[in-house]
Amino acid sequence: MLEVFLILLGYLMGSVPTGVLAARASGVDVRRVGSGNIGTANVLRAAGKKAAFVTMLGDMAKGFAPVLISVHLTPSTWVHAAVAFAALAGHTWPVFLRFKGGKGVATGAGTVIALAPLVGLFMFAVWWAVVLISRYTSLGAMVTMVLGPVAFILTGQPLPYVAYTVLGAALVIWLHRENIRRLAAGTERKVGQRERLER
Ligand code: G3P
Repeated sequence: MLEVFLILLGYLMGSVPTGVLAARASGVDVRRVGSGNIGTANVLRAAGKKAAFVTMLGDMAKGFAPVLISVHLTPSTWVHAAVAFAALAGHTWPVFLRFKGGKGVATGAGTVIALAPLVGLFMFAVWWAVVLISRYTSLGAMVTMVLGPVAFILTGQPLPYVAYTVLGAALVIWLHRENIRRLAAGTERKVGQRERLER
């Protein structure tokens, strides 16, 4: 019963559409601007730095909090991993947005920081470094998704955590398939490229 409650909590918290709410506070529907994604990168394009910062923190927190709660309430690493995936699934298929959500990078980051803080923060630093150098948030996400499971294996994390990073990374990469096409074609948007025109 506790397991079901925790997984449901993870899904519902993950479903909170931080980016939509933060952009709406600036009078913008982020889903109609730029890539149409509800994540930090597109909120930055649509509504500026403050809304983007709120989105990143909020999206990370909604992955971090339910996993941390589960770690304190049960020793089962399978439950921790299931709650992490539920939060990621909530962000990707949110009940509050008719199951049309985001690409899971910040929420996934929150979950891995709660599961394994040092490895999670290392992954976050890698993402940040790639974005700073390349100016492509999606490229940062792709590099982090490939390195993440490797870092979890090399640091001896429990099998359920490793399984979650493999499954989560596969999902996030699949959600970035259009970004990958644009990166290959040289048409991907750079970070901070302001885009107010509605789609
Ligand atoms: O977090 C999503 C990011 O990696 C790509 O977002 O808006 O450029 O498709 P976007």
